[in-house]
Amino acid sequence: MKTLTALLLLAVAAHAADLIEHARANADGKAAFSFDSNAWSDAEATRHLPIGVFDSGIGGLTVLEALLTLDAFHNDTLQPGADGEPDFAQERFIYFGDQANMPYGNYSAVNRTDYLRELIVKDAVFLLGRRAYPAASTTPQYDKPPVKAIVIACNTATAYGLEDIRKAVAAWKIPVIVVGVVEAGARGVLESKTQGGIGVLATVGTCASKVYPRTIASTLGRAGQSVPLIAQQGSATLAGAIEGDAAFPDSVAVYALKEARSLAEAYRAEKPSVPLQTIVLGCTHYPLAQEEINTAFAALRQEPAFRDIIAEQRTFVNPAEATARELFRELAKSRLRLKPGETCVIDQGLFYLSVPRVEEVGIQLSGDGSLDKDYKYSRSPGHFDFEDTKNVPLTPELIPANSAKLVKERLPAVWKSLGR
Ligand code: DGL
Repeated sequence: MKTLTALLLLAVAAHAADLIEHARANADGKAAFSFDSNAWSDAEATRHLPIGVFDSGIGGLTVLEALLTLDAFHNDTLQPGADGEPDFAQERFIYFGDQANMPYGNYSAVNRTDYLRELIVKDAVFLLGRRAYPAASTTPQYDKPPVKAIVIACNTATAYGLEDIRKAVAAWKIPVIVVGVVEAGARGVLESKTQGGIGVLATVGTCASKVYPRTIASTLGRAGQSVPLIAQQGSATLAGAIEGDAAFPDSVAVYALKEARSLAEAYRAEKPSVPLQTIVLGCTHYPLAQEEINTAFAALRQEPAFRDIIAEQRTFVNPAEATARELFRELAKSRLRLKPGETCVIDQGLFYLSVPRVEEVGIQLSGDGSLDKDYKYSRSPGHFDFEDTKNVPLTPELIPANSAKLVKERLPAVWKSLGR
């Protein structure tokens, strides 16, 4: 067995392997970046644990909204089809947004994917563990419930960390399901059954990893379908603009048009024989701007240069919905779904967000109290006794005003679940 663990560790990048080993060596879950390895020893009790969902920030709440509202199956027979009852009605979710360390999409551009990959496994470790900081305390507590499944709601985190987390879960020998948005999104492309070419809009990091073209090609290939032309466009601005970040002062429509144009140009450069028809919204935030993105493509189509290469009707693939369906299937397959009448160990969903841990020596902050940008992107992996961020309960004051407005208006089930 030891050999199997060693082999698994060899298969992951050194930095993730170090963290996997650190968590294994601290099996009581008291140390930072560790979890109680006994939490899943009783299979019956495991089913009653909540489901963990994480993202680099609040964007993943779009995925949580899909999880809270999905009605694509009959809850009693598990057969496809709506039954008027949300599919996860009995389940409870713990959401974690690594707000202090985001944007994840920009680590690759400064060659810091090693640190990003460690951050992503740390996110999973947090969800697995009981350790969290109370809002106004410098001492962690150990009352957060562990989870039975991890949903990586972030496209960039799925691109860089899905394999590491799956290998970690195997190395730790814990019966926890791991679902990522990219595989689900690729399945969404397959299920959309559209002809024509595919365009992926995502962060710079997600595009640099080429995870979408690769996963879409393998998903279509496995289903015996030919793989159409796939172009992608990585944006460093659109997610921030959708969140209402002051660094991006123009309207979302302006940034959407810029990215749509770049995607159409990238597609055209491949000399396509069919028009671009399927647009994958490969970033947590983009489903919130689907209208603006669609309007942008419609406007581009009025330009002679793009008329023939953009389809008149476009199909949007929102990986959030596909992820919710994937989780349902995976839970049912592993017999981890709560049965009718059963309840989760927590009554209400829980929400956590990372914030700078200002008491850590050596941490560098910017004027607004967030991690200094240069400091943030120059960190290196392997320092498990150093906590420059801490995960605290998400309270309304911690959500930037623009983001709170967005959640309230566009993600009503999440807003309700936040207790607002
Ligand atoms: N959540 C990220 C994603 O889906 C977008 C924001 C970020 O770059 O952190 O790729």
